[in-house]
Amino acid sequence: MTSAPVTEVRTPRASRARGTGDLPPGPRAHAVWQTLAWMSRPGGFLVRVHARYGDPATIRTYWTEEPMVLFSHPDAVREVFALPAEIAPAGQSWEFLRPFAGPHSILVIDGEEHLRERRLLQKPFHGEQMRALSPIIGELAGAELATWRGRVNTLERMRALTLEIMLRVVFGARDDGEFARLHAAVEDALAGVRSLPRVLAMAVVMKDLGPRSPWGRFRLAVERFDTLLYDLLARRRAEPDHEASVLSLLLAQRDEDGNAPTDQHLRDQLVALLMGGHDSSAASLAWAFERLARSPEVRARLRTGESAYLDAVVKEVLRVRPALTIAPRLLRQPTPIAGRTIPAGVQVAACLWLAMRRPDLWRDAGAFRPERWLDGVSPPSRSWIPYGGGVRRCAGAPFAEMEMREVLRAAARLDFRPARTASERARRSMLVVVPERGGEIIVS
Ligand code: HEM
Repeated sequence: MTSAPVTEVRTPRASRARGTGDLPPGPRAHAVWQTLAWMSRPGGFLVRVHARYGDPATIRTYWTEEPMVLFSHPDAVREVFALPAEIAPAGQSWEFLRPFAGPHSILVIDGEEHLRERRLLQKPFHGEQMRALSPIIGELAGAELATWRGRVNTLERMRALTLEIMLRVVFGARDDGEFARLHAAVEDALAGVRSLPRVLAMAVVMKDLGPRSPWGRFRLAVERFDTLLYDLLARRRAEPDHEASVLSLLLAQRDEDGNAPTDQHLRDQLVALLMGGHDSSAASLAWAFERLARSPEVRARLRTGESAYLDAVVKEVLRVRPALTIAPRLLRQPTPIAGRTIPAGVQVAACLWLAMRRPDLWRDAGAFRPERWLDGVSPPSRSWIPYGGGVRRCAGAPFAEMEMREVLRAAARLDFRPARTASERARRSMLVVVPERGGEIIVS
């Protein structure tokens, strides 16, 4: 584990907190070191901070402009999720996504506008409409896993599969040409922000220093992607899609005045789904392979096809290795949380990673044990928060679970073992945490 050297240097950021209230204790190491630990060993960093400073604790990284106070106790987490948007706009915590997400994206807006957008965006993810999408997802998953032989980097393969699902099932890409063009453009846009040095370079200097700078390259890739997406929208408007896709449902949306969505609006909705749903699903699935590879008895029971057990495996993967470690909100005014006043100008975050592995709440918290969901002792479900909570809770959760179920159903038929026996540690990749060696398995 990379330990953050302890220095007494305070970053200028620390002084941005405003008004009454003190920040809870936290590491005094410079933000550079905390950022490195946060990126390269996020799990270990969070656990260490919790062990040393308790709950809540304050960290300072370049990930956000402001210091961040982490909460993991269920009562405090509930208070964070219940904060109204006027006091704690969550969209502002993801402000750095705006250049790709777009100005109307659900990810970066707050308040009434956000609630309106959410009502529209969530519709396709419920009931019959969503269940109609599961056979095609099952087919795509089966076709992908049928090609696996020998050493497989499951993170790479799950990125490919979840992107294919996203483009075919959500964006409704029809023929192979349409799919291939969109695919190349998305890969290009995402490649720029996936590697650690590039994310750091962009987080520190998020400005355009020409087309060869990381930020400049990223902006160009986004422009290319937008051009293709607007072409696709024009084609679908001219010739509606008869196959089930999320885009065909989004095209049928009407606002309160009966207006159809604009191209810009649809573009921002699709990109929100892509940004919210691609890396998070791929990371969760790679973790599923990383855990399953080391749990032959779980794989054996999965093979029986018992659907309650499949659900339990999905829940347990999301508990023990949540793809997102925090759900942050930016405080606009001093606010009491868990009995102490947190000053304005600070990020407060429900720490999903810590909440789901608190030893006082979860028996054998670090173990991957899907049976815990079935053995009659009710687990502390209020602390099972892989999708965040409140009005910002993951808008694609039903889709994500359906996707995981389909892939794991197909995986149950495979015979595989870990490439190396030691468990893989977590590292950060863009917004999610992934297994450091890519969830490598050997398929026989
Ligand atoms: C296992 C996979 C996934 C995990 C672990 C996950 C987790 C999360 C989390 C933690 C949040 C932030 C919640 C908060 O701040 O309280 C979020 C937001 C969001 N997710 Fe997911 N997600 C997953 C898959 C998906 C998928 C497949 C989609 C779309 C198809 C999606 C779309 C979104 C959107 C649009 C938001 C923003 C919601 C808002 O701001 O109102 N996610 N997700």
